[in-house]
Amino acid sequence: MGNSEDYGYPKKKKRSTMKTMLKILLLVILTNLLTIYIFAGAPSSFHHDLSGYTNGLSLPLLAWRNTTAALLSELASTRAQLDATRSQLSDFHQRLQVVAGLLVRPQEDGEDDDEGGRRLLESLPEEARLAVGPHILPLGFSIRSGSDTVYPSVGSACLKYKDDLVQYMKYEVGGECPVDDIFAQRLLLKGCEPLPRRRCRPRSPKGYVGPAPLPESLWRVPPDTSIIWEPYTCKSYNCLVNRMKRPGFYDCKDCFDLQGREKSRWLSDNGNLDYSIDWVLNTKPPGSIRIGLDIGGGGGTFAARMRERNVTIITTSMNLDGPFNNFIASRGLVPLHMSVSQRLPFFENTLDIVHSMHVLSNWIPDTMLEFTLYDIYRVLRPGGLLWLDHFFCQGPQMNQTYVPMIDRVGFRKIRWNAGMKMDKHMNEWYLSALLEKPMT
Ligand SMILES: *[C@@H]1O[C@H](CO)[C@@H](O)[C@H](O)[C@H]1NC(C)=O
Ligand SMILES: *[C@@H]1O[C@H](CO)[C@@H](O)[C@H](O)[C@H]1NC(C)=O
Ligand SMILES: *[C@@H]1O[C@H](CO)[C@@H](O)[C@H](O)[C@H]1NC(C)=O
Repeated sequence: MGNSEDYGYPKKKKRSTMKTMLKILLLVILTNLLTIYIFAGAPSSFHHDLSGYTNGLSLPLLAWRNTTAALLSELASTRAQLDATRSQLSDFHQRLQVVAGLLVRPQEDGEDDDEGGRRLLESLPEEARLAVGPHILPLGFSIRSGSDTVYPSVGSACLKYKDDLVQYMKYEVGGECPVDDIFAQRLLLKGCEPLPRRRCRPRSPKGYVGPAPLPESLWRVPPDTSIIWEPYTCKSYNCLVNRMKRPGFYDCKDCFDLQGREKSRWLSDNGNLDYSIDWVLNTKPPGSIRIGLDIGGGGGTFAARMRERNVTIITTSMNLDGPFNNFIASRGLVPLHMSVSQRLPFFENTLDIVHSMHVLSNWIPDTMLEFTLYDIYRVLRPGGLLWLDHFFCQGPQMNQTYVPMIDRVGFRKIRWNAGMKMDKHMNEWYLSALLEKPMT
């Protein structure tokens, strides 16, 4: 019983729809025929018929011809107007769709978010609101950005940690900034990166002396007066240099001792996990590796060694309980205070080499790491090198997660060394690899 109804209804509906469609089709054809006749066929044929009889025409016929000519020219102008109207209409239609999209979209998903975002902004103290909120462009709509409003670039998580943001933006405008490096860096590492700009001045170290000249600066521990020590456990470079001899965990514990392990890093190649800079540079024509990036480069020794080979390396580093950025800069190298979460501030296909030791490892969530690797691939030029230096992971992760990930991103392997970590626990692995972005 249900079946017959099920069959009947759609059929009937189909037939009536067909009828309507046929009617519409007929109408469309008729209207078009009429249009063609009036606008195209009629004038040209009239004109053609009459052109042969121009000479010796009687007055009424001439008058009639005059009227016809006037009519024809009027028709032609009407047709032009119609065409113009039609194109205006289609333009208008397009705009209407855009506007409709704008009107509809917030209702569909983002309305609450937008409203929430605005309320959140309004609840901020003035300086914080100015630092992260919208500003109207003084010269009006910008074709470059397609907007008349600009938002300062701040990390997406800045508004998620509102209390921290408010705290960070609490200072006297035009006065001295609070010494809140640790707090600020923690906020940055939570995803409020880049941090908002501030209108205050950081304190200068007392008795500051300028840096040593190159090339001596590369291997000289700078004077203590180049640093504000408040944020750090150590209060002098001597303390930092000797930190490696004391128990306890610190990031890059022996990085400040330029006469220690730093001195010999990347100078010799053990044929296994330790690659030498010269071996890596020799995989390419001389002088063709010129510019690059060291991700999480500690005290900047990789950049120093590269500089000695006329390669310019920018070193990203956090100031994790040590003035790493100041130290790198004192050596005459370029530090970038940037976490591994942020999109690399380089354009596509620009860098010759990217190096990272220890930092890119299994502490980074898999998906984030994949985004990072794609970002490195993006900024490397074709034929550019990614030197993964002592990438650390658990045994099974190597083949299950990281090898397929590196393949997925599209790197070509030039050299690959995996080895068990000697100290501590079982089945912890290191991977060193020299990878290349393919030429095509
Ligand atoms: C035809 O039209 C013109 C002006 O458009 C007018 O001067 C002329 O007298 C007209 N001729 C006749 C025969 O009506
Ligand atoms: C680096 O460049 C300088 C100046 O151009 C040159 O004298 C020196 O030999 C170069 N060093 C290396 C290792 O290529
Ligand atoms: C990964 O796979 C390769 C080849 O299949 C194997 O030789 C290697 O031992 C594996 N590595 C680990 C860490 O299991």
